[in-house]
Amino acid sequence: MAKKPVTRFICQNCHATYSKWQGKCESCGEWNTLEEEKIEASPRRTAPTKANGLTTVRLDGKTTPPERINSGISEFNRVLGGGFVPGSVVLVGGDPGIGKSTLMLQATCALAKSQHEVLYVSGEEAIDQIRLRAQRLGLDTKPNELNTLDLAASINVADIAATLEEKRIHKVVVIDSIQTMWLENIESAPGSVSQVRACAFELIRLAKTLGFSLVLIGHVTKEGALAGPRVLEHMVDAVLYFEGDRGHQFRILRAAKNRFGATDEIGVFAMTDSGLKEVLNPSALFLAERRGNIAGSAVFAGLEGTRPVLMEIQVLLSTKAGDGAARRSVIGWDNARLSMILAVLESRCGVKLNNMDVYLNITGGIKINEPAADLAVAAALISAATGQPTASEAAYFGEIGLSGELRQVSQTELRLKEMAKLGFQHAYLPRHVSAVNARPRPPKGLSLQEIGHLSDLVA
Ligand code: TYD
Ligand code: MG
Repeated sequence: MAKKPVTRFICQNCHATYSKWQGKCESCGEWNTLEEEKIEASPRRTAPTKANGLTTVRLDGKTTPPERINSGISEFNRVLGGGFVPGSVVLVGGDPGIGKSTLMLQATCALAKSQHEVLYVSGEEAIDQIRLRAQRLGLDTKPNELNTLDLAASINVADIAATLEEKRIHKVVVIDSIQTMWLENIESAPGSVSQVRACAFELIRLAKTLGFSLVLIGHVTKEGALAGPRVLEHMVDAVLYFEGDRGHQFRILRAAKNRFGATDEIGVFAMTDSGLKEVLNPSALFLAERRGNIAGSAVFAGLEGTRPVLMEIQVLLSTKAGDGAARRSVIGWDNARLSMILAVLESRCGVKLNNMDVYLNITGGIKINEPAADLAVAAALISAATGQPTASEAAYFGEIGLSGELRQVSQTELRLKEMAKLGFQHAYLPRHVSAVNARPRPPKGLSLQEIGHLSDLVA
């Protein structure tokens, strides 16, 4: 006798399952995330098949690096770790309207231009809308140039699967977006955890068996997590986030997970009327609008993945109004780290800012999570407090410890080289400690100002 499907209440955030509805998910603590979904009755148990022994191999065997399909966009390749890997699955997540569809349409056109068979399936837009966008972006300049690009508008995963299995020509398949996909035998709405999971599972299975590279586009919720199940992140080989500030022109593609490459690489794009343009020299771009000789600004020589990037840190101080606690408003950096540096400045260097509101901003909408930015933040704070601008041809990096001492950070030489390349003349960095690494050789035209304690900088 066939079992009746059971209904369960599933948290749309963490996929915890409950038999009754409740307001709060006990597993992840989110409110109002439970939704009723029908669950397939578990299939009847079959007798276990005979187990076969595993074929094991030794570690020191011959390896072949995975084949790579050049995406045609070098910043995209960089984040992927060299290009798409056949049979692998990439999830591209981001806020609605940030430019995911645009990015993937540009990438599919570039792939088609180098004669790769690609399929772009949109569950959100009609074919004409996609065509119009391609025209607006100037992607279809020559006739017959995009002969190997197939477009389809569908949300039916069974149809998509049938097409892929029948044609078997596609090397890269883009699904825009996984939240719109739908499988008939799952009884919940598109975008629900069960649907997203089942659809992704089916598409991933196809990618592995047919050997194409699959790109799933996914929306991100207001809280910053991928909408639908967190489990999606575990099912795919790479998770890339496309992020940026709506008000800014820059977009950053960042790898949060990558089985075929490093996770700290970023790709930088500028959004224009004619689509996303690669930014091959982000430092020059982030510093383009910098005005020298203004108190409260310092240049930080940061590292994004393997690439050094210079960015401007701005601080504004204003006298606190009223009796409440002073404001600490931080954009693009860690609030707790700012409080720490303020505390170190006060108790180790005698710079008191506790009755001032502090506003800190990293220009260009970029986010820093390196402690190496400490020194540049301190320099900007000191400059704002004293009203003296930092030297316009100086840049800073170094971590600050709780006693005010400066600590070494990684890739000193790379950072110094980038400073020299952009015409900076003075590098402020932690004092060299021979036990940690070799003394950096300054590039031509750059003088090194080694700092042992934060109070040296104040002086
Ligand atoms: P879209 O790619 O549709 O965002 P998403 O798929 O992430 O929701 O882009 C949103 C809008 O921004 C769209 O109307 C096109 C526009 N846009 C540009 O004009 N230039 C650009 O470089 C990008 C990325 C987007
Ligand atoms: Mg879109």
